[in-house]
Amino acid sequence: PSPTTWSDRFEQGLHPAIERFNASIGFDIALLQEDLDGSIAHARMLGRCGVITAQEAERLIEGLEAIRVEAAAGSFTPGLEAEDVHFAVERRLIEILGSLGKKLHTGRSRNDQVGTDLRLWLRRRIDAIDAALVRFERALLAQAEAHPDTLIPGYTHLQRAQPVCLAHHLLAYVEMAERDRQRLADVRRRVNVCPLGAAALAGTSVPIDRRQTAAELGFEAIYANSLDAVSDRDFTVETMAALSLVMAHLSRLAEEVILWASEEFGFVGLTDRCATGSSLMPQKKNPDVPELVRGKSGRVFGHLMGLLTMIKGLPLAYNKDFQEDKEALFDGVRTCLDCLEAMAVLFEEGLAFRPARLEAAVAADYSNATDVADYLVARGVPFREAYQLVGGLVKACLAEQRLLADLPLERWQELHPSFEADIHAVIAPRQVVAARRSEGGTGFERVAEQLRQARERLDST
Ligand code: ARG
Repeated sequence: PSPTTWSDRFEQGLHPAIERFNASIGFDIALLQEDLDGSIAHARMLGRCGVITAQEAERLIEGLEAIRVEAAAGSFTPGLEAEDVHFAVERRLIEILGSLGKKLHTGRSRNDQVGTDLRLWLRRRIDAIDAALVRFERALLAQAEAHPDTLIPGYTHLQRAQPVCLAHHLLAYVEMAERDRQRLADVRRRVNVCPLGAAALAGTSVPIDRRQTAAELGFEAIYANSLDAVSDRDFTVETMAALSLVMAHLSRLAEEVILWASEEFGFVGLTDRCATGSSLMPQKKNPDVPELVRGKSGRVFGHLMGLLTMIKGLPLAYNKDFQEDKEALFDGVRTCLDCLEAMAVLFEEGLAFRPARLEAAVAADYSNATDVADYLVARGVPFREAYQLVGGLVKACLAEQRLLADLPLERWQELHPSFEADIHAVIAPRQVVAARRSEGGTGFERVAEQLRQARERLDST
């Protein structure tokens, strides 16, 4: 604005480079709806408290709604001179209403205003992220339900460990997403606290009613301390931490899909809906979607570190440094929403598991070795002794290039007299999986239980 936007204290306008440097309108215009909502609640409260007349309040609200209409029509396009969204709205209101518009900012500061806008904005976005998490979970669950009998190698250290149900593997990510939802719901409780009425830092001598505005804006509580109210950005850090975990989970799954889609694994095929080609190599089909998700996780982690660093040295109360919270928050939320949607689409229609390849993989390794040891344990052999015996057997098999399943009964009985003809059935992959009946294990009934619970939970969401 002209120098007089602040006050007659200023005689000269801003240097153009500084005007650009200082302005946040380029990005905080994203808070326009919330800024209007907050101002409408503030105007109504001023009217009810008798700070302005009821009629003045009505006209202020009409003016603010008119700006909303202009914005929807694309004709509200404030420039750099407005500095930020709050000044932009106030300036326009004064243009529309004349001097009455100058009453809106009574008993309020941009400091409590921006905090209010940001919380209103974030509350809605947390709800959108929750919905995106639910869609992502549904996509995973549908794949899991479509493969109740398919097995997949289970790994530790990315070395074949024990076979598991594919559904079990996918449901692990559903669990992570559920915790992500819980974390965000918890953060939301602290986002949903209203700073409005803290004014610049100390409260106000204007007889306002903070509880009225808070209630009208749907906040559950108000900040108890005005200094804290205008300088708390904990909620942005907490949000980014929760989003970072969402991204870490997505990135791990993305990494698995990338591996699975490789020739070496061949566990999934990518459909044309979510894969891309090469500009040079005609045979290529690339997993760009999970690669981008994996790559984008770094942005969100970076925002978390940026926010923490921005806050750590700030004396009470408001400091302009806080203006830096917005781009981090906006980009972090946008990135997370985009990635959740992309991963949901990927599991909805972007990939197809290849049961024959999975079946062959599970049958052609030594991931049933633990079950051989457990077989002996069930017949009274101490576990460590059984473990040693089976280790020696695997070594011999590797040298002979054969699988445990290929050994004749004599070889088993040479190793230990307790082996009987049923050993072959016991170490078949399906039996190996079925035997893991402990709660939360990969046994078929346990996985069916998990599928049912996940289905019930998602259907009631
Ligand atoms: N654009 C500012 C921000 O994002 C609004 C608050 C400005 N307050 C101030 N006292 N300069 O933080």
